[in-house]
Amino acid sequence: KKAAIHIDRHFIVGEVDKRIFGSFIEHLGRAVYDGIYQPSSPLSDEQGFRRDALKLIRDINVPIVRYPGGNFVSGYHWEDGIGPKSERQPKLDLAWTVIESNQFGLNEFMDWTKKADTNAMMAVNLGTRGIEDAKNIVEYCNIKKGSYYSDLRRKHGYEEPYDIKLWCLGNEMDGPWQIGHKTAEEYGRLAQETGRIMKMVDPSIELVACGSSFLQMPTFASWEATTLEHCYDQVDYLSLHQYYGNPDSETPDFLASSVAMDEFINSVVSICDYVKAKKRSKKSIHLSFDEWNVWYHSHEQDRKLERWTQAPHQLEDVYNFEDALLVGSMLITLLKHADRVKIACLAQLVNVIAPIMTSDTGAWKQTIYYPYMHASVYGRGTVLHTVVESPVYDSKYGDAPYLDSVLIMNEEEETLTLFAVNKSLDESMEVSCDLRQFSDYRIVDHMVLAHDDLKAENTEANPDNVAPRSSGNAAISQGQLTAVLEKQSWNVIRLG
Ligand code: AHR
Repeated sequence: KKAAIHIDRHFIVGEVDKRIFGSFIEHLGRAVYDGIYQPSSPLSDEQGFRRDALKLIRDINVPIVRYPGGNFVSGYHWEDGIGPKSERQPKLDLAWTVIESNQFGLNEFMDWTKKADTNAMMAVNLGTRGIEDAKNIVEYCNIKKGSYYSDLRRKHGYEEPYDIKLWCLGNEMDGPWQIGHKTAEEYGRLAQETGRIMKMVDPSIELVACGSSFLQMPTFASWEATTLEHCYDQVDYLSLHQYYGNPDSETPDFLASSVAMDEFINSVVSICDYVKAKKRSKKSIHLSFDEWNVWYHSHEQDRKLERWTQAPHQLEDVYNFEDALLVGSMLITLLKHADRVKIACLAQLVNVIAPIMTSDTGAWKQTIYYPYMHASVYGRGTVLHTVVESPVYDSKYGDAPYLDSVLIMNEEEETLTLFAVNKSLDESMEVSCDLRQFSDYRIVDHMVLAHDDLKAENTEANPDNVAPRSSGNAAISQGQLTAVLEKQSWNVIRLG
């Protein structure tokens, strides 16, 4: 197969907001307990944080981590997780039918973010709670001193405010499964008032309102429009969530899911701009795609879980090679919308639908770790418009290009990075791109993630089964970049 990519260095989509490479830690399964926090483990530091997980997270350079949920947050009392650990009480977590020990809470999380070199994206409970508690947590986190909650934080040993800039107004409030779920009218008003009061406490914060839980929600589009009509002036971002799966092993359709993701983003941008027009507003709402991933491998096993245990193996998808290809395509899709998608969180980070797994004896990288790490490490700069001539195939989402690609220019570091997925399962693809505007650029590296077996996995016993190699053949001659992309492969071509 053959494809051509056309670019012009002056035709720009937008700056990549580094928060597009965010992730998510929820109190769920073994994400917190035995994932990032395991005081009893010799692999943990003096605060009980797993050193091996921290190392793999730092290598990704994760800019933000959403916390503490997810469905969990809609029944959570943040005060249960602060103060002396010996006085904290276990509580029922109705979202995931487990017992939450509360041994890890807000302060532990903020300590952990420092060690992970990341920043918090904090969610407030708008399921069972509302304005008052949201106001209190902002005061606890962001006010220096002299008020009840700021002094309480100091009493707990944290003199300086955390200055958390990004806050989610609840989670998936449109979903009937959500604790305290709401109609669009109810949620829109609550988000408006809660947001207004939170910004009274700290005007420097930014707020994310809940969009639909996924595209197929029957209330999709009207939920976005109605809620935004209420809270447009108070919020800065609208959330999108979407997971994809391949339960029937229809790989071409599965790999075409990025077409659906692209369409989903276009639709939400249109709805935001419809409300903007209706309100004659000067402000644009940006998108926070704060839950995205592949999620289906663990569904069957999770249905058998016993209730009211602590930190069970839950949502522990073991990812395979084709999942990594789709994750790569989804990252390309997010980057191509850099003008409107400013935040995105791969859900989640450790053990729960995660790129990183831990056991009592170590931590390892799942297949999806690699495209995520590559995009975060090499994908910072300016996204250029790409016009791609690629053969397409017929999928359940309509025409799907065999080639997904995005080009990022980093003027400061004088680098160019091309991320590309060849979705063909039987043919390599010859790709060309005219780079005469970057005449002195040379190939730095062409990394390839490829495997003959689409179902190949990385496990604790075989952690390097799927791993990238610097084996690509990208070359530049007379200003023309050419590369042959192996069949079913993720590629990172770096120039500088
Ligand atoms: O990420 C797992 C769950 O998926 C989250 O708790 C919820 O927000 C979504 O439905």
